[in-house]
Amino acid sequence: MKKKTRSLTKAKSKEKSILGSKSRGHENSQIKFLTRKVESLKEWQRRLSILLKFTKEASTTTNLDSLLVLMVEEAKTVLMAERATVFLVDKQKKELWSKVALGAQPIRVPSDRGIVGAVYTTGKLLNIADVYQDPRFNPEVDKKTGFRTKAVLAAPMRNKKNQVLGIFQVLNRTHGGEFDQQDEEILTLLADQAAGHVENSYLYQEIRKTAQETVIRLAGAVEYKDYDTRHHLWRMSQYSAIIAKEMGFSPEWVETLRLAAPMHDIGKIGVPDAILNKPGKLTAEEWVEMKKHPEYGFEILSGSNNELMEMSATVALCHHERWDGTGYPRGLAAEDIPIEARIASLADVFDALTSKRIYKPSFSVEETLKLIQDESGKQFDPKVVDSFFRCLPQIIPLMETYAPRSDQQKAVPTPAF
Ligand code: C2E
Ligand code: SIN
Ligand code: SIN
Ligand code: FE
Repeated sequence: MKKKTRSLTKAKSKEKSILGSKSRGHENSQIKFLTRKVESLKEWQRRLSILLKFTKEASTTTNLDSLLVLMVEEAKTVLMAERATVFLVDKQKKELWSKVALGAQPIRVPSDRGIVGAVYTTGKLLNIADVYQDPRFNPEVDKKTGFRTKAVLAAPMRNKKNQVLGIFQVLNRTHGGEFDQQDEEILTLLADQAAGHVENSYLYQEIRKTAQETVIRLAGAVEYKDYDTRHHLWRMSQYSAIIAKEMGFSPEWVETLRLAAPMHDIGKIGVPDAILNKPGKLTAEEWVEMKKHPEYGFEILSGSNNELMEMSATVALCHHERWDGTGYPRGLAAEDIPIEARIASLADVFDALTSKRIYKPSFSVEETLKLIQDESGKQFDPKVVDSFFRCLPQIIPLMETYAPRSDQQKAVPTPAF
């Protein structure tokens, strides 16, 4: 790299000295031509080094949002544009929405109108020097954002099946003028790369959703006589996520817990129905059977190196441990109990108390909150209890909507997990 730069500089100084000697017109134009070539090579070199730098950074990033933010910055730098936006397709609403638009408000536009709409419908790149001369341009967005668009370069983001997943758009060259063919080639490259990231993320989400639904259905296979397992699982999963978020865990971790928590009682599938559905108190022998469900659950869920499965197994095994060490199955205490289980345990008990069970009526919210407060430092981690109380403004409305408090109130169908 260094060597090349030096020789380019040399070429430039030589050219200057010849120009200084006022050589003939023929030589002059030849030199101008060479100068342009050298300038253009230097420009390529500059751009390649930017592309390489970003590619290297992107190779260690897995989160789709971060990847797209990186690519938008890359496009702005390489193409020297004032703005760069990645639009994704919302097929249901027939709209394109700005997934990433640094420094700009989120934008939604109909997918068959405007410049990006035209790129979406035709699947072809558009390079427009002055959009205000183009009848397809919709000046509404400029009016809203206060930004004055002039030059637009917009490329379709295609997946391997040639479907357009979105549009990669850059606006206004920072030094004015229009985007050229080299810019078009670079943006096409970036759009393809971005499409690859989006496609991967969609596939990943799809796989995750399928796996999750499979397990939720299995978790819900334990049926009880007097209450809807699925509703209980959904509620305690939401409560767990709300508390975890309040405690400051990362969004990814919170999401994993939200999906792992509803599998906590899957081991009850190994407990005889006669015990699960017994209207009254359990005998000592029945308790022995019942207390095996965390280990049954762990057996079902453990042994995978999938992060979600691992957390599910941990929660299943440890959700009846108690902070003071008197829980089951292992009698772990305090921070020896994994935090995900400490959170899920509180969410589970809150929902168990505020719901009717075949062996007990539902408690009032006041009674429930009092019991939880009394158990802080005994059954529950005090820090989890504190977070739970801070979350009540979110938790109570969910409970009121989705947990039937009397026989008169019918259960509202819960949303998907
Ligand atoms: P579950 O019904 O999902 O209850 C989960 C947890 O909520 C219980 O774990 C307990 O910590 C809390 N909980 C539920 N009801 C009450 C209550 O009336 N008072 C208090 N203080 N806490 C309550 P636990 O006790 O380890 O029980 C695990 C599972 O064993 C329960 O899951 C339920 O399926 C079963 N079970 C517990 N007690 C009885 C009972 O008296 N009769 C029957 N048939 N099953 C019971
Ligand atoms: C985390 O985000 O993983 C840590 C948050 C916490 O421990 O509160
Ligand atoms: C496990 O045994 O791996 C889960 C519970 C724990 O770590 O204590
Ligand atoms: Fe349980």
